[in-house]
Amino acid sequence: MTVPLIERYRDRLQVPSDAEVVTLYEGSTPLIEAPRLSERIGARILLKFEGLNPTGSFKDRGMTMAVTMAKAEGAEAVICASTGNTAASASAYAARAGLHGVVIVPEGKIAAGKLAQSLMHGAKVISLKGNFDQALEIVRDLTEKHPIALVNSINPHRLEGQKTAAFEICDELDGPPDALSIPVGNGGNVTAYWKGFREYDTSPLLYGFQAEGAAPIVRGERVEKPETVASAIRIGNPARWKEAESAISESGGAIEMVTDRQILDAYRFVASEDGVFCEPSCAASLAGLIEYGLPVADDGKTPETVVCVLTGHGLKDPDTAISEGPEVVTCEADSEVVADAVFGAGS
Ligand code: F0G
Repeated sequence: MTVPLIERYRDRLQVPSDAEVVTLYEGSTPLIEAPRLSERIGARILLKFEGLNPTGSFKDRGMTMAVTMAKAEGAEAVICASTGNTAASASAYAARAGLHGVVIVPEGKIAAGKLAQSLMHGAKVISLKGNFDQALEIVRDLTEKHPIALVNSINPHRLEGQKTAAFEICDELDGPPDALSIPVGNGGNVTAYWKGFREYDTSPLLYGFQAEGAAPIVRGERVEKPETVASAIRIGNPARWKEAESAISESGGAIEMVTDRQILDAYRFVASEDGVFCEPSCAASLAGLIEYGLPVADDGKTPETVVCVLTGHGLKDPDTAISEGPEVVTCEADSEVVADAVFGAGS
């Protein structure tokens, strides 16, 4: 029997024993060897493929916790601001729990797959004429004034659930990796990983990456109009800014930024060379290692094993994939014409 995440780590999560667990059987995602990336980067690269969660992103780890607790506390509805993945996950878990889901997303800036998910799970989707940061401010305000549970990562239960990814990595490797590379938006996930690693008495180097056009933490100031092809991390005022900064500095790691071009190149490389299709934002964690090289610890050692967190599945964002991929070859329905296209010059 597949075991819900909350049951697997019940001794490390504060869930009341009589609470009904809301689960879609999240977690237990694979660590995938990436030989071509490893060769390119010069270390053993393992991909923690969070795109294999039930709604296709790491958000499900936190959402099983947040929705279980919301339901236990008697909530009838949940709400979040989102660049798409939190919305998809909140919508699915709300449906599962029999709660109303409301999601506020920036108009025209969420990937098609994520929108499709929220709609199919029956959530009320509000398309905001504004960006994620504005959506989060509105959601904070609404939840103060109305009886609706907030399930963004400012909800502490979300981070509790997300820390389990660090447990899984340590359990599988029989200890921590030397370093972890991760894309940073609101800073919730990197904060959660650090919490998980510390609870296991480990401290790998944390290496965080933001997109150049949405890099408030790297720049040390709010970005009023964040822009990047990596729409999931298009955030100018991270909700977990300070916690993310502390986690990274306590680990001895660093946070840097990468350009959209570097993100897209890494996104295509890992799909075409190592066969793993992630969404563009995740590729920031790969692009950063390619661009900046391996982080060096305080003791001067270079990591040998690095886990890169691929936070969401590539199928979430078909539009970026189709525009970045090679040309499609159109052919008449004739075997010779097709043979020519397959085997002929220029194929
Ligand atoms: N990768 C993906 C695919 C994401 O969807 C997000 C955040 C992140 C990385 C960054 O994680 O915010 O914890 O630092 N997505 C949020 C959302 C903002 O609304 O889906 P973070």
